[in-house]
Amino acid sequence: MKTAARTTGRAAERRWTAEMEDLSLHILDVVENATAAGATLIEIRIHEDSRKDRMVITIKDNGQGMDGEMVTKVKDPFCTTRTTRRVGMGIPLLEQSAREAGGSIEITSEPNVGTEVVASFCASHIDRKPLGDIAATMVALILGNPDVDFIYQRSIDGVTTDLDTREIKEQLDGVSITAPPVLNLIQDLLSATPEGEDLNGSDQTASS
Ligand SMILES: Nc1ncnc2c1ncn2[C@@H]1O[C@H](COP(=O)(O)OP(=O)(O)OP(=O)(O)O)[C@@H](O)[C@H]1O
Ligand SMILES: [Mg+2]
Repeated sequence: MKTAARTTGRAAERRWTAEMEDLSLHILDVVENATAAGATLIEIRIHEDSRKDRMVITIKDNGQGMDGEMVTKVKDPFCTTRTTRRVGMGIPLLEQSAREAGGSIEITSEPNVGTEVVASFCASHIDRKPLGDIAATMVALILGNPDVDFIYQRSIDGVTTDLDTREIKEQLDGVSITAPPVLNLIQDLLSATPEGEDLNGSDQTASS
């Protein structure tokens, strides 16, 4: 499975030697923040609108959140609650990637409620990084965090692909969501992205 090389937890270390080549790696990093904050439900939404030439990635969690002071400081690389090193790069690098592509990031957070990170990009900007292998990224996240639930939604010009691990777990009847056949199924479902040849596939619904 393609996911083998894309493990969660080591994204930060990889960054010191290799540039973040795609937006999926940024998503991994931001989700790592959410899991570190004790989130049990993480929503990942990727919306593309060609008419507005915008791409918006939203990652929302129900973790411990941050107070107002932390939210204003979090874009500074010297702001981290890490104990293993003194700089935190996840948010500053995402902001840099958004800025380079004519966009920005917004963070809203509330202690004991959760955090929402919204990154927007000019979709056609020459410096907008590709999304990368989002199906492999989602499978790696599910595999690495089986007790966390994920809501995933990707929409391209209103045509959406959705996944909710709570619904999948309900149907599994005791089988682990990390069982290889289940992960393969998820990978296949998410690989049929709205812009692919499966545009009229049954797993996609027009959104309002
Ligand atoms: N979703 C979140 N919930 C609660 N706190 C967060 C969240 N995201 C970021 N933070 C806080 O902001 C700090 C900075 O985050 P950032 O991702 O930039 O760096 P880091 O996670 O500390 O290090 P790195 O990403 O380089 O591994 C974190 O240490 C954490 O205290
Ligand atoms: Mg981080």
